[in-house]
Amino acid sequence: MKPSILVARAVFPQILTLLEQHFEVTANQDDTVWTPAELIQQLQGKQGVFTTGSQRIDAQLLAACPDLKICANMAVGYNNFDLNAMTAAGVLATNTPDVLTETTADFGFALIMATARRMAESERFLRAGLWTSWRYDMFAGSDVYGSTLGILGMGRIGQAIARRGAHGFGMKVIYHNRSRLDAATESACGATLVSKQELLAQSDHLILVLPYSPEAHHTIGAAELAQMKPTATLVNIARGGIVDDAALAAALKQGTIAAAGLDVFDGEPNVHPDLLTVPNVVLTPHIASATMPTRLAMAQLAADNLIGFLVNGKAMTPLNPQVVTA
Ligand code: GLV
Repeated sequence: MKPSILVARAVFPQILTLLEQHFEVTANQDDTVWTPAELIQQLQGKQGVFTTGSQRIDAQLLAACPDLKICANMAVGYNNFDLNAMTAAGVLATNTPDVLTETTADFGFALIMATARRMAESERFLRAGLWTSWRYDMFAGSDVYGSTLGILGMGRIGQAIARRGAHGFGMKVIYHNRSRLDAATESACGATLVSKQELLAQSDHLILVLPYSPEAHHTIGAAELAQMKPTATLVNIARGGIVDDAALAAALKQGTIAAAGLDVFDGEPNVHPDLLTVPNVVLTPHIASATMPTRLAMAQLAADNLIGFLVNGKAMTPLNPQVVTA
């Protein structure tokens, strides 16, 4: 008998077809966002689940779903997983690293550019019919080329952003991370390790690319924003909650920093109302990895993890491989 799996959100039809070759599949092509209780109900009798960042897998759910063996996230971030609880329950977790690195780094750079050069603000102005003449300082922003790029979190995506900054935009690249990169990687990225304080004080453009954890909550709040240059921009493509959105909106209003670009929000898809009222912020709906080839590669890798583990006994990108070897 084929193993049974749940695909918890809508997915590419060809990925569903692939999964159906190996599994009894319950799919959610209507893309209903289930409550935790509905998700538990849907998971009864399922050995695997294809998740996105919007399904929380925690001890309560695991206790109620004793057949579950693997949760395959179609995302590189996995803060929707309680990894310790999954390991304790003997449930394998997988994510989708590498396949989205360059696409996400492109978007990070797009947001840096859009924020520094006030693209969203000026487009809104034009669409509103307010462009009546040229003016010497109209939507004058800040330079990206030759400026100082600060990167907080220097994993694969941080490094890909650093390479773009150092080699494409002639930027001085500084970073802060839990651990220092090896010398060869630092040199390939053209990046120098600094303290968090130095990063805040020296960056012309600061981009956040660190994973979310409870310890990372509000890594950037009022105190950190106050340490930044008044001309600086801040971009968050990491996770909501890493920035204190209310403090950021206040800082943008008061001119503590010049502008921000945000792809992720605390409590998304809800956005802090204060952010919606400040003009100098570019807001996008968590789309940093959203190109068709990359989203397809992510879905393929999540599917390969399910097939690899439940059919062939080996997942491609396990997060808690000790579950298998235990
Ligand atoms: C997107 O946010 C991801 O983690 O892949």
